[in-house]
Amino acid sequence: MKTSRFLSTRHVWWGAWAALAVSAAGIALYSVPAYLTGDPTQSKIPINPDVALHYLSITIHALPASLLLLLGPLQFVPALRNRYGKLHRVVGRVYMVSVVIASVAAILAATFSVDGISVQVAFYLLTAAWLYSLAQAYRAIRRGQIQLHRIWMIRNYALSFAAVLLRGFLILGLAARSRYEWLTFDDVYTTSTWASILVSAGAAEWFIVQRTLKPLARNRRPESAPSPQKGQL
Ligand code: HEM
Repeated sequence: MKTSRFLSTRHVWWGAWAALAVSAAGIALYSVPAYLTGDPTQSKIPINPDVALHYLSITIHALPASLLLLLGPLQFVPALRNRYGKLHRVVGRVYMVSVVIASVAAILAATFSVDGISVQVAFYLLTAAWLYSLAQAYRAIRRGQIQLHRIWMIRNYALSFAAVLLRGFLILGLAARSRYEWLTFDDVYTTSTWASILVSAGAAEWFIVQRTLKPLARNRRPESAPSPQKGQL
């Protein structure tokens, strides 16, 4: 990444981290109150009138999901990880348990959803990827594979962050809808759901290549490449 004399790569990454942490905290704090009231009419999405458990499943999903959204950015700060290793492990466990509870409730919420099959499939796949990346991250750290653990946690948090992008895309989509009247709410919601997952997952892969794989590739000759002969250099 090219940067000016006044703006180092380090500053850019810290800026990106701060934007991520602030937007995640904003969405988490904005989402929670509606699901603390116990009143289904406060829900921000339509509740299935035939399923008494629908609002409860969204509540059980939204509370731990908001907590993990808040905690995640702290786990990526190297100074915190290095200086307070025990805190990193405790917060990591809270994060993991939150993902598991939020996932089980998300499966129920997706099943009861009245927002259509395309959105339901998106949420099922997102839950599967969320749990899979978490399991891989846990397995890696149990084996002492720190780099691999980090890569899988970047993927996992990126999937959590899809919830933030979804709300951002919804705002943009609803603004576009006031101009393009042929757009339905379902069009905006479905497109925002899929776009948030693809953009988040894609950004995580880009970040992993930039920060982990590229430096490794630079330092390593492919195994099949012959070592340079004297005079060839
Ligand atoms: C990444 C994995 C996630 C999955 C698979 C997932 C799944 C779901 C599903 C299926 C619904 C119901 C949607 C509908 O009926 O249309 C929902 C709603 C909701 N989710 Fe998630 N979600 C995830 C992450 C998060 C995170 C990280 C948060 C944190 C803020 C969150 C907060 C909410 C809230 C507050 C609702 C209720 C709708 C609203 O008030 O905007 N979710 N989620």
